[in-house]
Amino acid sequence: MKTCYFWFTLLVISLSSWPLAAEDGVFDQYRDLMGDDNPAVFVIDEGEELWFAAQGPKSVTLDSCDLGLGPGVTAGAYARFPRYFADTDEVMDLESRLVHCMTTIQGRDLETVTEKPYSLRGDLGTEMEALVTWLAAESEGAKIAPEQTHAAERAMYTLGEEIFFYRAGPHDFSCATCHEQSGMRIRLQALPDLTSHSGAAEAWGSWPAYRMSQGLVRTMGWRLRDCFRQQRWPELQMGSEVSIALQTYMAVNAAGGIMTAPGLKR
Ligand code: HEC
Repeated sequence: MKTCYFWFTLLVISLSSWPLAAEDGVFDQYRDLMGDDNPAVFVIDEGEELWFAAQGPKSVTLDSCDLGLGPGVTAGAYARFPRYFADTDEVMDLESRLVHCMTTIQGRDLETVTEKPYSLRGDLGTEMEALVTWLAAESEGAKIAPEQTHAAERAMYTLGEEIFFYRAGPHDFSCATCHEQSGMRIRLQALPDLTSHSGAAEAWGSWPAYRMSQGLVRTMGWRLRDCFRQQRWPELQMGSEVSIALQTYMAVNAAGGIMTAPGLKR
């Protein structure tokens, strides 16, 4: 690991002075060099510890949390989200399901657990980020298979599709404005076509991801919030219907692909 960090530092230094056009190639080289040594491994460990840590007024762990495959079953659970839960009568993404378990099982305060789900720059990571990263790693190699059996799950997909193509805001942008064609770029950043199976599968399957530029693991919930910002739309709330609908749209387009998260991103 230590040698890897040496190369990592060296590459970050050279990246910052590299001509822009070469950046992509360098990033690919960097990723090859890192191989399986994604710094997210530390966050995975932290997430596992948090899952098994007794917390809240009830001082219990999350081990009885049902992520859809039965209480405490974590292997493969991430790959089936978003999905309908009868106990809440809602389609939930992983983040909102975790919040549900924290408040009902551990008895924690809703406002406190949802106050700051995502790190700000310079932070060391949040509990939500760590838990989601560990749970994604528990699905690594699994087939992306979001549930679409319940009518509410299919309605969520339709809503997500509508929002994806809905143009609004000061620039009249929709998600599709930036993510409907392949081979598009903004400031040299590749923009995946999220309406195609391969584009959606690669993107959906690779989040949460370690962002080198931020030194943090980010979740898909954060990724969408950041795209909302780029789109000049109001701040996207974690666990909101809009967020879950967009995730359902992407996950269903990605169905059949393979979970590779945690990914490694620029
Ligand atoms: C103004 C252009 C723009 C709009 C509009 C936009 N995005 Fe993005 N999106 C980006 C850029 C740029 C990136 C890559 C960011 C990076 O690599 O740092 C990105 C990355 C992503 C990714 C991660 C892809 C991957 O492979 O890692 C997802 C998922 C995504 N956007 C979804 C959305 C959704 C859903 C919407 C609509 C709510 C949206 N985006 C609207 C510019 C946009």
